[in-house]
Amino acid sequence: MTRESWRTRLGFILAAVGSAVGLGNVWRFPWMTAENGGSAFLVVYLAIILLIGVPGLLAEFVIGRRSQRNPAGALFRLSGSKSWGAVGLFGVVTAVVLLSFYSVVGGWILRYFLASFTGGYFGSPGAYFGSINFGLPAVGFHVAFLGLTSLVVLGGVRDGIEKATKVMMPAIVVLLVALAAWATTRTGADAGLSFYLDFDAAYLRANFFDVLGAAAGQALFTLSLGVGTMITYASYLGDDHNLAFDGSIIAVLNTGVGVLAGFVVFPLLFATVGELTGPAASGGGPGALFVSLAGAFTQVPFGQVLAIAFFGVIVLAALSSSISMLEIPVAYLVDEHDLERRTATGALAGLVLLTGSANALNPALFDFVASTLVDLMLTAGLAGFLVFVGWVLGKDAVAEFSTGAGSRVQSLGPAWLWSVRTILPLFLLGTLAVNLLALAGVSILG
Ligand code: TRP
Repeated sequence: MTRESWRTRLGFILAAVGSAVGLGNVWRFPWMTAENGGSAFLVVYLAIILLIGVPGLLAEFVIGRRSQRNPAGALFRLSGSKSWGAVGLFGVVTAVVLLSFYSVVGGWILRYFLASFTGGYFGSPGAYFGSINFGLPAVGFHVAFLGLTSLVVLGGVRDGIEKATKVMMPAIVVLLVALAAWATTRTGADAGLSFYLDFDAAYLRANFFDVLGAAAGQALFTLSLGVGTMITYASYLGDDHNLAFDGSIIAVLNTGVGVLAGFVVFPLLFATVGELTGPAASGGGPGALFVSLAGAFTQVPFGQVLAIAFFGVIVLAALSSSISMLEIPVAYLVDEHDLERRTATGALAGLVLLTGSANALNPALFDFVASTLVDLMLTAGLAGFLVFVGWVLGKDAVAEFSTGAGSRVQSLGPAWLWSVRTILPLFLLGTLAVNLLALAGVSILG
């Protein structure tokens, strides 16, 4: 059977943007921004996207297109070494771990979307979240969300992922622009905008390393790096693509959607609550911004319509990301173990049904997986891919980088390779070491 490929260039770009745009942009980015000094975080985050995110994205693209394989098969085939194959397999495993918590959050969102029609949480937003976030109700909606994800992946690259994301992405942008236009013109929105946009140098100086760590983690998460999503998606590409150009478009669109979400969230919170207080400001866990925002919708005219639009955006964004997580292990089983796409998708959906339910039933496990474990695995994974591209592929990576590109982009190849060999993995390994020490410190003290 011949391997599938994208039908059009736009189809690939939108699928990759669909992977990148997700809960990371609409939920995690405003939450991290709120916890890390607003504008101070925004500036550092944008710098990291440019200096680490884009070159890292291109490294995954180069591996994927050159090998035409899933992450494990790609690293094994390009190097002939089983150990490198294991590094790729680590990414495949990370994808399963990631989907196991992402699908639970996706279930919450699905539930909020449906409850926006009935007004289910309008009475007491805080208590409502507490009653649905973990336990059997959470399991049910996790399974529903996983079912939707599996249906798209079952359809395959062209008829499933490409078709679905081509509709979802424009819908997301249109709805978010409308919501931002509305939110920023509310009375009281100014305070939110200045929290978001007025650069606070003093905060940054006092908390530099915390902000740096949070911004780096967020940058990898939002660009879907370190797992092999972008390896897998680029493996369905031909030689006529300009990787650097496509990668830049993807990063710009993804960052744009994140920044746009900030223009919805902060004005809305400040306009209704007056200042950033309560769960959103203190960072009271993963549900914080959720509770505050749903609460905000209950306080404004036409709140119900706005809530439907807002949670509708998030459902679409979350789905276009979760399908990219499931596609990695599916591609692995199809490429390396000759399974039918149907069998592979079914088997993996069954597995994630179990691992996700464990997260939905155990808040402590969920917290550990969603923050600590995922951060560590993404950072280690991307460091592995970069060392592979820099030191194993080397000159071949520059050749792949240049294939299909104009001469101006081609001249950037050597500088890109240099950064992939040196500062980028050093930065990631440094972050990893700091995170691991913190983890060890906690467990020694605790
Ligand atoms: N980028 C997505 C988001 O922001 C999440 C995501 C999809 C992801 N695929 C990934 C994160 C792979 C890390 C790795 O919601």
